[in-house]
Amino acid sequence: MRHFLSVLDLNSDEHRSLIAHAIDVKQKLGQGISHNPLSGKLLAMIFEKSSTRTRVSFEAGMYQLGGHAMFMSPRDSHLGRGEPIEDSARVISSMADGILIRTFGHDRIETLAQHSCVPVINGLSDRLHPCQLLADMQTWFEQRGDIAGASVAWIGDGNNMCHSYINAAIRFGFDLSIACPSGHEPDAGLVQSGGHRISLHESASDAARGADLVVTDVWASMGQEQEQEQRLQTFADYQVNRQVMQQAHNDALFMHCLPAHREEEVTTEVLESAQSVVWQEAENRLHAQKALLEFLIAGGL
Ligand code: CP
Ligand code: NVA
Repeated sequence: MRHFLSVLDLNSDEHRSLIAHAIDVKQKLGQGISHNPLSGKLLAMIFEKSSTRTRVSFEAGMYQLGGHAMFMSPRDSHLGRGEPIEDSARVISSMADGILIRTFGHDRIETLAQHSCVPVINGLSDRLHPCQLLADMQTWFEQRGDIAGASVAWIGDGNNMCHSYINAAIRFGFDLSIACPSGHEPDAGLVQSGGHRISLHESASDAARGADLVVTDVWASMGQEQEQEQRLQTFADYQVNRQVMQQAHNDALFMHCLPAHREEEVTTEVLESAQSVVWQEAENRLHAQKALLEFLIAGGL
């Protein structure tokens, strides 16, 4: 039994097979050919934070695979009334075939996985957002082929998405140049784990220079709403705009996991430009995660 709490939970070959399978099933879906390997299977989805893409893509994905998804929130379950996550894990996993969880502390997801007898998927924690990387990598592969050896720029907050890009750089073999305001750098241990693949830069332009892909995310993540105003000032020099994109290669792509705050971390001009693949990236949440669900719950592709 496998869990998917981090990009590092799959090896490099597994990631590439998963992307190839996702692209294949996506194409067949477009031709009206259905694929139902999870008939009769149930995914329990625990959301302790808001979501549009993650919820819709997992629910649509389970439906298309022939199974069913069940939405749970702390407001209408005992998770919000103090029942330990260990007990919830044992009970839910005795009835469901997989558990998706979006929550705050990453340790909560690790505890859930330790006590679950079915695969657990990290739908975002304060530390990591690995499902988004599956979609981002699929999008790159569709657009450009393998990402090994490419130069990727991360600009903005050293947050859960940045951490997952570091892990992806390790698994996929690309170079990652990161520019964050002082005090908002990614976890030092994670940066170190990426070795020579990871470099930290002072300015957005420095990180973007020569990049094949430029990526950013909101300046205030879920749970940081009270810092929003302060962060607008702290991050003001880290906006992805035309000047920053001009430092990258002419054919560089732009990605953002969404939701985007236009004119904050990215200008409308860049978000809506021909270089932006954010809508394809969002749709690929569905296709990449269907491959993940099949891999984890059916036990292979
Ligand atoms: N990118 C992403 O995870 O979006 P949601 O918060 O809408 O799920
Ligand atoms: N870093 C953002 C990602 C949202 C999908 C957050 O955690 O809120």
